[in-house]
Amino acid sequence: MRHLISAGELTRADALLVLDTAEEMARVTERSIKKLPTLRGRTVVNLFFEDSTRTRISFEAAAKRLSADVINFSAKGSSVSKGESLKDTALTLEAMGADAVVIRHGASGAPHRLANWVRGSVVNAGDGTHEHPTQALLDAFSMRRRMGRLEGLKVAVVGDVLHSRVARSNVLLLHTLGAEVTLVAPPTLLPVSVETWPCQVSYDLDAVLPKSDVVMMLRVQLERMNAAYFPSAREYSRRYGLDRDRFARLHDDAIVMHPGPMNRGMEISAEVADSPRSTIVEQVANGVTVRMAVLYLLLGGSEPAIGGIA
Ligand code: CP
Repeated sequence: MRHLISAGELTRADALLVLDTAEEMARVTERSIKKLPTLRGRTVVNLFFEDSTRTRISFEAAAKRLSADVINFSAKGSSVSKGESLKDTALTLEAMGADAVVIRHGASGAPHRLANWVRGSVVNAGDGTHEHPTQALLDAFSMRRRMGRLEGLKVAVVGDVLHSRVARSNVLLLHTLGAEVTLVAPPTLLPVSVETWPCQVSYDLDAVLPKSDVVMMLRVQLERMNAAYFPSAREYSRRYGLDRDRFARLHDDAIVMHPGPMNRGMEISAEVADSPRSTIVEQVANGVTVRMAVLYLLLGGSEPAIGGIA
């Protein structure tokens, strides 16, 4: 594997290799070992054209924990504001010696284009409404850790599927790993292409909740929303928000997830987000170990991943 652009391109063996490698990384981190020498001398560029908190910081933390050098690029304040193209920006960064470029871009397909222009590995950190493969990997890792399995797990992915790269990547990856996904959303927040996705679709959250092992709430992406088809925050919350009453419909072992950032009080209540059965903070921590595994596997460190540890 040279690039990670789509969760749909991962075979079951690829995906399990990432999850199992991430388990090794987590075990090392849990032993309070802060840094591995694995990617010493390698350079990872974080190329972010859209805002991010979790993804950008966790890629930086992951690369540093593997001893890579990190260059952080944010489009704001760069020559992009003078009109420089993605290709010229990428070639400039490559000239500075990038072994891997982690890219977030508002245009679906930007990481795919980038992979044709640079020699290093490209990792998709979210492209438009298309995909966010490392989010899906960290979500699968978090589910497997909490539930002990992925095969046969019933996962409800709820909310603004239309604008969600997280939903698409999760559907593709979870299907590959044997979980059963149901998308739950108002018809206006589902893409037309959903008919071809390997999952069920429902408009009725209350019917799906009692049958679910995992409920993944999606952020309502107001910044991408056309007011013509989004009723109101209150109406949305009444029909599709996960509040205390709906939470009570879940079975006792079911967990609640959210990729963040959250609209507390809209798609999820603060009480549910902060409950012990919410994995939201764990997902962030797991994001670092999963991204360590991805960088390690792509850059093929010259030393064993966990080698050289006392
Ligand atoms: N989940 C996620 O991608 O969060 P950020 O936008 O903060 O990176």
